[in-house]
Amino acid sequence: MVFEAKWITTSMNTGDVCPVFRKDWSITKPVRKAELIITALGVYEAVLNGSRVSEDVLMPGWTSYDKRLQYQKYDITELVEKENSLMVTVGKGWFSSPMPGWVESEDKDRRKNRPRGILSEIHLYLEDGSEEIISTDHSWKWGESGIRFSEIYDGEYCDGSFVTKQWKQTEEFQWSYDILIPQEGEPIREMERISAKEIFYTPSGELVVDFGQEVTGYVEISLDAQAGDKVRILHGEVLDKHGNFYNANYRSAKAELHYICKDGKQTWHPRLTFFGFRYIKLVQFPIKPELSQFAAVSVYSKIRRTGHIYCSDPELNHLFSNIFWGQKGNFLDVPTDCPQRDERLGWTGDAQVFVKAASYNFDVEKFFCKWLRDLAADQREDGSVGQVIPDYLPEGSPSAAWGDAAVICPWQIYLTYGNKRVLEQQFESMKKWVDYITKVTKTQYLWTGGEHFGDWLGLDAPSGSYKGSSREDFIASAFYANSVRLVTKAGKVLGEDITEYEILYKNIVKTFQRTYPVCHTQTEYVLAIYFELTETPQKFADQLAELIKKDGSQIRTGFVGTPYILHVLSEYGYARLAYTLFLRREYPSWLYSVRKGATTIWEHWDGIMENGDFWDTAMNSFNHYAYGAVADWIYEKAAGIQLLEEAPGFEKVRIEPQADYRIGWLEASIDTKHGRICSRWTNEDRGIKYEIETAVDAEIIINKEKYIVRPGCYTFWKDKHSK
Ligand code: BGC
Repeated sequence: MVFEAKWITTSMNTGDVCPVFRKDWSITKPVRKAELIITALGVYEAVLNGSRVSEDVLMPGWTSYDKRLQYQKYDITELVEKENSLMVTVGKGWFSSPMPGWVESEDKDRRKNRPRGILSEIHLYLEDGSEEIISTDHSWKWGESGIRFSEIYDGEYCDGSFVTKQWKQTEEFQWSYDILIPQEGEPIREMERISAKEIFYTPSGELVVDFGQEVTGYVEISLDAQAGDKVRILHGEVLDKHGNFYNANYRSAKAELHYICKDGKQTWHPRLTFFGFRYIKLVQFPIKPELSQFAAVSVYSKIRRTGHIYCSDPELNHLFSNIFWGQKGNFLDVPTDCPQRDERLGWTGDAQVFVKAASYNFDVEKFFCKWLRDLAADQREDGSVGQVIPDYLPEGSPSAAWGDAAVICPWQIYLTYGNKRVLEQQFESMKKWVDYITKVTKTQYLWTGGEHFGDWLGLDAPSGSYKGSSREDFIASAFYANSVRLVTKAGKVLGEDITEYEILYKNIVKTFQRTYPVCHTQTEYVLAIYFELTETPQKFADQLAELIKKDGSQIRTGFVGTPYILHVLSEYGYARLAYTLFLRREYPSWLYSVRKGATTIWEHWDGIMENGDFWDTAMNSFNHYAYGAVADWIYEKAAGIQLLEEAPGFEKVRIEPQADYRIGWLEASIDTKHGRICSRWTNEDRGIKYEIETAVDAEIIINKEKYIVRPGCYTFWKDKHSK
């Protein structure tokens, strides 16, 4: 679209105070339809004649703003009156909040100092067939809003009794029009409301509200107060071992709310920021608080739930719930590592680890297509991919398994949704990433050298290190092989000539096998087998199983090995061992955090240790979706719903459930593009009952026997497992 509008900003620097831009206009002729087209440098809230123009919040969302900025189009016909007043309040948002919190850099200063402004056009389609456009220009006014401070990490400070007295002339300024793109992602919305569960005093006398669930969003408060009464709120994810309020793990993020009341009954929530929290501490509250005065509003991208997993074990169901909540809390326009501390960034490694589970749990096709365009836009000259997208760490070196998000994510979105366009869109970027490795490696056909995150947070890390003991060159080379292979597969789908990459792939595999004939860690075995880099996968799987048993039937893997370990075991005859790891309740395990009261997935297997101590304040998020990747094993192996590469988008399906006698029943379903696929098994006295419902042609494998079936519902029986 071609814009007539001018970029406008305030005539003076308002510092922390959020400006409100205003346009008053009258209707002289009958209007058939009215539309508002709008974007901002920052995040905005647009209100016409006292009503928000849409349910979207935190718009225009988060993109690689230097290259891509979304604008929104809203139908405002219903809101238009004879005399109209449009008010647009703009906060720093992701655009100019000081992010990332722990970094000082030129790029951060540059971003922090960018102007705040808006660009907008009101299109009036009149009954007489003509059209009028009211565009931003210097005739629009600006004033100070009641939001005196708003930032992503530090929170919001709002004066509810503030009235804008002075309306001043705005200034037009130069900013790019080339970056403007129509809304690509899902809108960000207030998706769920959770009522407060408990209000109590902690042992150290703090007044705390518990919502019983960690969410990302904000708290909404309702109260009857007098003008000038003060509310001050802090956010936290967990209580410490004494039951006191705790948020030292937010690091430098203050995550604080201040509200100055107006007179009378009022309901308020912050408008231009968000937090990750389960508890709030009422540092100041003018009256005796009651449960009904508080709600936690969960804010995330409007993604549709497509996956469901349930079973007979309440603790596992709790884990499943934590996985879904972990996704909701970190799918706020960009897939983020966590929603609370001074990060909240689009960490590429985390996204690739979780993308498969994410794509079964929810419809994230649009969500990822948008983010991947940002990834391509931010890809550096040399083809390398930043650690986070949007790239707010341009000084950070590219890491294996993180940069590979450039290849793994589009491939998965293609597979889950049968969306060939995402491959077309990303193919150049995918190739650029592997070409980058080919250029920078110190050893041909492997990726050696460079700085990597290794098997991040692996439990076999040497003391004092965040990185597991798997060899970095091993991991980097394994991911290099996998990415080159996926490039060849994508190329084939697109009908591209990929001979060069096929030859490269063969050479990498040969060199890998020669260089790494043996594996030393669980993660090394897992990668060699899962990425098909060994000629003797069964032998490796046997050795992996041995190693796991030697380790006390415990997982030792970190970000890199965890998503695949159960798959590999199930694939090579060790389904029972996979279940043993999955069902383990002591540390380290998925269920350990459930037993410790988690309501989302933790960053560390032992975020809260056995004795109740915290891992460390330096890096201890209680809402990090990465280990929730185990969900894809539940869909694919436990319930057996498997994507076929030759039938992307679940046009056909293979269903090969692996039941275990330690769970009474388990059910998983996915609402695919072609309809619902559901697989359920139950341990009954007679044997194991398998109930399968498929909306597409399916190959069902039960007890090694294959059945080719048409869409429908099927039941199978198998003798009981021997224990
Ligand atoms: C983030 C991670 C991320 C990692 C990379 C952390 O601070 O929270 O999830 O992948 O850094 O090193």
